[in-house]
Amino acid sequence: MCGIVGYAGPGTGRRTEQDVDLGPGPSQRPLEVVIEGLRRLEYRGYDSAGVALVGPDTEDVAFAKKAGKLVNLRTELADRSLPAATAAVGHTRWATHGGPTDGNAHPHLADAGRLAVIHNGIIENYSELRRTLAAEGATFRSETDTEVAAHLLAREYRAAGDLTAAMVATAGHLRGTFTLLAVHADAPDTVVGARHDSPLVVGLGEGENFLGSDVAAFVAQTKEAMELGQDQVVTITPTSVSVVDFEGRPAEGKRFTVDWDAAAAEKGGFESFMDKEIHDQPQAVADTLRGRTDADGRIVLDDLRIDEAVLRSVDKIIVIACGTAAYAGHVAKYAIEHWCRIPVEVELAHEFRYRDPIVDAQTLVVAISQSGETMDTLMAVRHAREQGAKVLAVVNTNGSTIPRESDAVLYTHAGPEIAVASTKAFLAQITAAYVLGLYLAQLRGNKFPDEIATTLDELRDMARKVQTVIERGEYVRATARSMKDADKVLFLGRHVGYPVAMEGALKLKELAYIHAEGFAAGELKHGPIALIDDGQPVFVVVPSPRGRDQLHSKVVSNIQEIRARGARTLVIAEDGDDDVRPYADEIFWIPKAPTLLQPLLAVVPLQIFAMALATAKGLDVDQPRNLAKSVTVE
Ligand code: M6R
Repeated sequence: MCGIVGYAGPGTGRRTEQDVDLGPGPSQRPLEVVIEGLRRLEYRGYDSAGVALVGPDTEDVAFAKKAGKLVNLRTELADRSLPAATAAVGHTRWATHGGPTDGNAHPHLADAGRLAVIHNGIIENYSELRRTLAAEGATFRSETDTEVAAHLLAREYRAAGDLTAAMVATAGHLRGTFTLLAVHADAPDTVVGARHDSPLVVGLGEGENFLGSDVAAFVAQTKEAMELGQDQVVTITPTSVSVVDFEGRPAEGKRFTVDWDAAAAEKGGFESFMDKEIHDQPQAVADTLRGRTDADGRIVLDDLRIDEAVLRSVDKIIVIACGTAAYAGHVAKYAIEHWCRIPVEVELAHEFRYRDPIVDAQTLVVAISQSGETMDTLMAVRHAREQGAKVLAVVNTNGSTIPRESDAVLYTHAGPEIAVASTKAFLAQITAAYVLGLYLAQLRGNKFPDEIATTLDELRDMARKVQTVIERGEYVRATARSMKDADKVLFLGRHVGYPVAMEGALKLKELAYIHAEGFAAGELKHGPIALIDDGQPVFVVVPSPRGRDQLHSKVVSNIQEIRARGARTLVIAEDGDDDVRPYADEIFWIPKAPTLLQPLLAVVPLQIFAMALATAKGLDVDQPRNLAKSVTVE
């Protein structure tokens, strides 16, 4: 959702690596930094973009905003002569209140054009505020909720004469979720920000400072960063960063160093970020496993700040997450229950919070999130903690809100995931869940050390096997190209193959806009089999033939049942599984692996299939329509 960038620093100087042509005016480092930041935040999903600039010689805020992609804004800027600036803000908007038009794009101006505000979130009491402000004489030019924040800030600034104090007062009037950034022509080297239930991170430079929705906004400029707490106002100038809370009392941010390189968020020669991120997956699995054992081979989780005695006393685990992360949670359930004999529930975060769940001090809530900012998951985390549960976050993004508000964190080390469709984060989340399961088994004595060591070795070998599946991708791509006119695709799986089937369906829906459903294969005869008619494509995830409980033979029977009714069967099966050959129209072979670890392999052909089919349809696989990478509103 909305991307936010702020910059305070010298008006000229070092150019960014992009060396963008931003029009006929003087060299514009603030504008260049902000545009580059917006480019790096494009992945969040947006439908309009804008910038606002102030400098020592500006009477009013200079600004530009355009509906559509960033290129539209850049074209607009290229035709304009902008004044030299020393502070700037930039915004990509994902429309909520008011359509994606030039007028509704941010920034929104007030104080006779001398103040500009950008916003991420939803201001829930905007209607009443708008009526009050209009009665006081404010003129509204957009349909957005954001514009009330601009007029409020102008009113408070007139009263306080200080932008930081005005922001504190403004925050006190707003309900809902917000990150706000503001610049004022009176303070040409200053950007003020406020955050309430919406992300904002500070980038610390030399003689310049940055603000961003996440570190991607400024990682090309600096890796030194500062997390802000909830309900804080931050003021940056080129040489200072000061933080206060919503009462105006001084507060501290927490410094950290971004552990990935700006290059990690570039396509690196691939056609899309998604393609690159699929290829990053062996590394993501390996990195998520790295450093998790001590010299004796015992699992050590340094970031897990929950007392071991508490973890031993846990009698229930609830995994909360959304979308792909929730499917990773389903895999976690199978593994943790099998290894640790603790009941595990998996719940969509937005459902969990509103159904009065039974949670107490013996419950461990595991919140899985790539971004660490998903609002539904964050709200569920808060609810769980209010009920006395301990919350462990499995998160990919440093400096994000969910780990900050959780009792403990287990970071996945997938690196930045830019494509909206999650791929490498999914594999890293599953890997982290396996590590957590084995750790709990070790702690609670459910498994012997040599059993844990064997599983860890098998897990370490998975990165190589994922690489093998990726290398076999051309056959999957060719199949996808041949199916570009499909209008409905079904996915079946059992046991851990079931969440893989659901994830395969989600990938196809979000990338190729094809109706796709994932079913538990055992459920087939209870209804979904009625969907099968002549030529209906059905993917089937087949478990290892060496697995337990006749799982394999049951799924082979399911393939026969749907084929007998005309389905075109696309089977994901383990190397050498001759039982499936007679019933498969296409087979995507994956290396042999223990049943519980198979999702790391089985999902990869499904990711490649969705990407290739969407590409064949001429769709943008990195930024599918209507979607945002990070869903920061409920
Ligand atoms: O950042 P999160 O992992 O919390 O995001 C959760 C979902 O929004 C996310 O996985 C979404 O379903 C992806 N677009 C799936 O590809």
